[in-house]
Amino acid sequence: MKSNKNRNIIDATAGLGYDSFILASLGAKVTLIERSEKMHEILQNGINEGVSFGGEIEKIINRMDLLFGDSKDILPKLSPEVIMIDTMYKDRKKTALVKNNMRLVREIVGPDSDSVELLKVALNCAKNRVVLKQPRYADPIREIRKCSHQILGKTIRYDIFMTN
Ligand SMILES: C[S@@+](CC[C@H](N)C(=O)[O-])C[C@H]1O[C@@H](n2cnc3c(N)ncnc32)[C@H](O)[C@@H]1O
Repeated sequence: MKSNKNRNIIDATAGLGYDSFILASLGAKVTLIERSEKMHEILQNGINEGVSFGGEIEKIINRMDLLFGDSKDILPKLSPEVIMIDTMYKDRKKTALVKNNMRLVREIVGPDSDSVELLKVALNCAKNRVVLKQPRYADPIREIRKCSHQILGKTIRYDIFMTN
């Protein structure tokens, strides 16, 4: 992560907070937003437990700020530089991650049927970029403009939409 650049990130779909934790461990200040009461509670408990470990874990978690609510309502009230979105896809392939942790999330929240609306709000709000995490072979989303570039992993793809 480049120093002093794009270090304020909003994770608009917090879930279990894995992605946010990685970003915070790289030095970013991350605001997490979660709208499911149950997921928010699980995540808040995890954050509290993590803080109690002290040391480096506490320092990382202190860079994470968890909010409760729908990102479609909250994002316009913030001034985000970078927004990350990782909504729950109906057809997520059965990777190990889906089998274990994401299956738990899916059982709790179901599919995120308003993900296109969330993306549109994010594209209107982000001062620098929106990063959309998707399964590698997911179809591009027809309702929004083409992404600026992509980062491809083995099973995951990041579509990056520059907004500045
Ligand atoms: C696929 S999970 C995210 C997993 C996360 N990236 C992680 O590392 O654990 C999607 C989560 O986003 C939440 N979500 C979806 N749409 C949302 C919205 N509009 N506002 C807030 N949370 C949302 C869901 O409730 C679910 O917990």
